[in-house]
Amino acid sequence: MMVNIKIEQKDYIAIITIDRQQALNALNRELLNQLKELLNNINYETTRCLILTGAGEKAFVAGADIAYMKTLSKKQAEEFSIIGNSIFNKIEHLPIPVIAAVNGFALGGGCELALACDIRIASDNAVFSQPEVSLGIIPGFGGTFRLSRLVGEGIAKELLFTGDRVKAPRALEIGLVNAVYTLPELLEKAIEMGEKICKNSPIGVSAIKSVMYEVQKADIYGKMYAEAEYFGNCFETEDQKEAMTAMLEKRPAKPFTGK
Ligand code: CAA
Repeated sequence: MMVNIKIEQKDYIAIITIDRQQALNALNRELLNQLKELLNNINYETTRCLILTGAGEKAFVAGADIAYMKTLSKKQAEEFSIIGNSIFNKIEHLPIPVIAAVNGFALGGGCELALACDIRIASDNAVFSQPEVSLGIIPGFGGTFRLSRLVGEGIAKELLFTGDRVKAPRALEIGLVNAVYTLPELLEKAIEMGEKICKNSPIGVSAIKSVMYEVQKADIYGKMYAEAEYFGNCFETEDQKEAMTAMLEKRPAKPFTGK
């Protein structure tokens, strides 16, 4: 039985809610293990999009658990970082899009969790920060490399060096989030976006996610090659044939099946 996290299914969308409100949803080892287990057990036949959010009205995730980290040795801290990073990498590599619905504080590991998702939307009370330097440490779950990818190196370095808090309007301005809504609207809007995604070809959506990840690593020729390979892989599928045939026959296509 998972005490700190729950998952619910709404048609093709799975919604994971981190629910450890007594510590503002801070991530300890147990919670990370539970998240890993849920991610490992997603059924991609029935799930085409994942939404991640936090329980309550105050926090998405207020970071890695400081009470847990306080007495860690160098070795234990390194292990904790590797565990967190491997789970967040898993999110980045899931074959379906992951939307973070950031419903309040997203600090330290909470900001990093949002950064590992494909898309971030936030409530108007959301606050982002990488405050690790104020705790005598550095981000351990991907903040040093994922933040600059999203907001550019200059702003990322400013946020990482100062630990400044970024409120929702500024987060929108710097591209840290795609949109800001009121708290009661947030999950509804995430589901709305998820529903749009789920209507599209899952093979295509998944291929875009893979290509966009691979091109970050490759040079321009590698980029073209990765795109060509994934482009090719979308063909000879029932979905591609049906969608293109329907377009040419000027009729609505049958719903995508993922086959
Ligand atoms: N770890 C453990 N417990 C936490 C926590 C965290 N990251 N964040 C909040 N809590 C706990 C508080 O200790 C408090 O517990 P008690 O009621 O038992 O005292 C409870 O949650 C409520 O928090 P506050 O009373 O502090 O609430 P507030 O409204 O006064 O402040 C806050 C809210 C600004 C988010 C504040 O709690 C805070 O600054 N939290 C720490 C945020 C932080 O520094 N996160 C980064 C951690 S480092 C990291 O994540 C490293 C990494 O990259 C892996």
